Amino acid sequence: MIGVFDSGFGGLTIFKSLLERMPEYDYLYLGDSARSPYGARSMEVVHKFTRESVEWLFEQGCELVVLACNTASAKALKNIQQLDLPARWPDRRVLGVIRPSVEALVGIPPATLPAHRRPDLTGGSVAVLATRGTVLSNSYAIEAAKLAPGLNLIQQACPLWVPLIEAGELSGVGTEHFVRHYLDPLFKGPDVPKRILLACTHYPLLYSLIRQVTPPEIEVISQGEIIAHRLEDWLRRHGEMDRRLSRGQSEGTRRYATTDDVAWFAEHGERILGCPIQVENVELQPVEGGSGITAT
Ligand code: DGL
Repeated sequence: MIGVFDSGFGGLTIFKSLLERMPEYDYLYLGDSARSPYGARSMEVVHKFTRESVEWLFEQGCELVVLACNTASAKALKNIQQLDLPARWPDRRVLGVIRPSVEALVGIPPATLPAHRRPDLTGGSVAVLATRGTVLSNSYAIEAAKLAPGLNLIQQACPLWVPLIEAGELSGVGTEHFVRHYLDPLFKGPDVPKRILLACTHYPLLYSLIRQVTPPEIEVISQGEIIAHRLEDWLRRHGEMDRRLSRGQSEGTRRYATTDDVAWFAEHGERILGCPIQVENVELQPVEGGSGITAT
């Protein structure tokens, strides 16, 4: 199976795009809703929670895990890839969403896309909207500096958006106020971005409102299609992993798990995916051994 992890139900915005682009694979989605939001948590805690989640997904038979959560990708991915995988699961893989998002933002095409079909996304400033943790980690800026040193990347934390989304407040004057609260300063600043990346799995749920208050000439980008496209490309280039992934004839199996209330998760999940889902509850266990965490 392909495991997909998020701090909660928000990662289903990315999961939906994976199902649309690559329906044939078997998938297992885990949302750590009981401990969400991760956005303001320390690096140690995000690593601990993410590590436990990845461990569970591996135990269930996932060969490959995608950290759909930007905060987990920013704060836990490096340690999981460099310390946990070699020590515990050397033949499994964990991928994050930051590098592929930055590649798309700066116009680096997926390796398998024919040259004549490669989009030109370069030019102009880019604003990355994310959780406080993702912004403070500077992960987007670090990746952008490696891939496109000339790019002007503006990072904006929007800490009030996840609580609003979790409360189901996706429209109305109150939510619009808080959407404008973080966006208006970007539009009034000296360097108005040409593109805005919604770099938090929850934010696409506010897409309509964000689009409505954003000047039409500014592009608003969700990550789902980017991640699905780049994962497909990655699997084409990593045949040894692709061959290990189970799949169905035209459509594979889908499993959904949460660490919190299954009914609450299903209600939000069905709204995002547009179809009924069965959700199971899981209790994550501490992982043996020190985290060996290194700061980035
Ligand atoms: N899933 C998180 C992310 O993409 C946002 C929600 C949270 O703070 O846990 O960064």
